[in-house]
Amino acid sequence: MRTPPGPPTLAPSLLSADFSRLGTELAAVAKAGAGLIHVDVMDGRFVPNLTVGLPVVASLKKATPLPLDCHLMIVEPGRYAVEFVKAGAAWVSVHQEADPHLHRTLAEIRGAGAMAGVALNPSTPVEVLSDVLEDLDFVLVMSVNPGFGGQRFIPGALRKIRELDRLRREGGHAYLIQVDGGVGPGNAGEIIQAGADCLVAGNAIFGAADPGAACRELLARMTSARTPGQT
Ligand code: DX5
Ligand code: ZN
Repeated sequence: MRTPPGPPTLAPSLLSADFSRLGTELAAVAKAGAGLIHVDVMDGRFVPNLTVGLPVVASLKKATPLPLDCHLMIVEPGRYAVEFVKAGAAWVSVHQEADPHLHRTLAEIRGAGAMAGVALNPSTPVEVLSDVLEDLDFVLVMSVNPGFGGQRFIPGALRKIRELDRLRREGGHAYLIQVDGGVGPGNAGEIIQAGADCLVAGNAIFGAADPGAACRELLARMTSARTPGQT
């Protein structure tokens, strides 16, 4: 029987942070109650953008007590997933569209001691995960096409979240549902009510004048959406 999910968690995405002030940005969101730090790894091939890799993750590990959540938007993620765990990632997600050997990659991530996740692009249906639902710790529902921060939430993601929530109830699975892209104070409650457990937010936090205050507002909306009788 699955363990009921705990309180929803917030994962600020560093993609929208000021990379010259990462230590300050990390401290602000940690103090405001963030549960994870979301690190977007892009290779310029799976997505049309380039970001950071293993050395930056290793440095972040030294700079924050929060668990690091590495979202690998790279081709052949199975080649690097365990390296990210060794560098300090506590959660690692790979894209279904990039990996024909998901079962093996997930086992390797878990074997290295991290939470193993699969990310789904907006055009990828939930059904592709039917044979690995036992083998993953979380599903990352992309609610924008990956590659850039500050895009608009694609409403069809809500149907996908509800479907994943239904599948875990019916199948007795324990995976968490993470949602990434276009999340902000205006839709965080609705996304949690659809069944999400962890929300990633970049622009809504680091684009705000006060990232700590933005975290607190998002968390308040997430928590009240999870409380029965409230919206
Ligand atoms: C997009 C990344 C996201 C991005 C989200 O490809 O995976 O994590 O930082 O940014 P916002 O919250 O601004 O949509
Ligand atoms: Zn991401």
